[in-house]
Amino acid sequence: MDAATAHNHDHWEQLASFHGTGDDDYYDLDAIISGASRMGKPEIAALERATGGRGVAGLAVAHVQSHLGLDSITMARAGAQVTAIDFSATALQRLRELATSCEVEIRTVESDSRDLPDSLTASFDLAYATIGVLCWIDDLDAWMASVARIIKPGGQLVMVECHPLLTMIDTVSPLIMDFPYGGGDALVFCGTGTYANRDADVTWTTVQYPHNLGEIVTAGVRAGFTLSFLEEHTECDYAMGKIPGPEADGYCRIRLGSGSPQGDPTVPGQPLPLLFTLIATKT
Ligand SMILES: C[S@@+](CC[C@H](N)C(=O)[O-])C[C@H]1O[C@@H](n2cnc3c(N)ncnc32)[C@H](O)[C@@H]1O
Repeated sequence: MDAATAHNHDHWEQLASFHGTGDDDYYDLDAIISGASRMGKPEIAALERATGGRGVAGLAVAHVQSHLGLDSITMARAGAQVTAIDFSATALQRLRELATSCEVEIRTVESDSRDLPDSLTASFDLAYATIGVLCWIDDLDAWMASVARIIKPGGQLVMVECHPLLTMIDTVSPLIMDFPYGGGDALVFCGTGTYANRDADVTWTTVQYPHNLGEIVTAGVRAGFTLSFLEEHTECDYAMGKIPGPEADGYCRIRLGSGSPQGDPTVPGQPLPLLFTLIATKT
């Protein structure tokens, strides 16, 4: 494992033991065990769209970079045969315990997603990857080719991911966007806490890679995907990382400037894109 991947692997091992413990509202495992789902509106809509409204029942789904696998549980409960893939052994161990508590079967595979095992080749109807997946990936072409390889011909990649404009943000208040819009060059971050719990007693160094929409789509096309849907979202279902808590309508946004050219302070600023949905078919 190269040094950057080793840093990131240590980080995720640490977060995998911490998340879902104590008063973690973000990874509320008790709620999941009682039957709740953590899937947001864009993820639900993406699966609906990819399956033509039929849902995931009966489909073989690879949950790529699954972390604790909350969405794995939701898809398994909906009747999918789910394989959760992550390079964190701790995350997969926690996922297996959660699956047992939820009385669903989920297969786990410990692997780097840039180099998935040959045994998974052409095995899945859908590869599902969401929220905070690509920023850990130095080589987008390798990731797309590896994920494309495990999808059956005619199967689909369903991705709901942080928008590259969101990953440019250093601080929200004031809004300072100091990180590059893509390019893929390594950025080293040091900090404490986690996106799910800013007060968590966790100290870390990570190496992350900004990729813009053009780079992501182009890597997908090079890997043999045909893009069928790309949508940008200016709202999301829950606060995470730098995204503040919900507005009056229950959705979270980051607003930019004044929404009123006349300077009316009662008009809210324009919301930035926070997430995007990408659906692509392996041709
Ligand atoms: C932000 S989490 C994904 C969140 C997840 N979608 C959820 O719903 O909780 C990122 C995950 O990517 C995994 N990861 C990071 N780099 C990886 C790599 N190169 N190969 C496999 N997994 C990786 C981490 O272990 C972590 O579980």
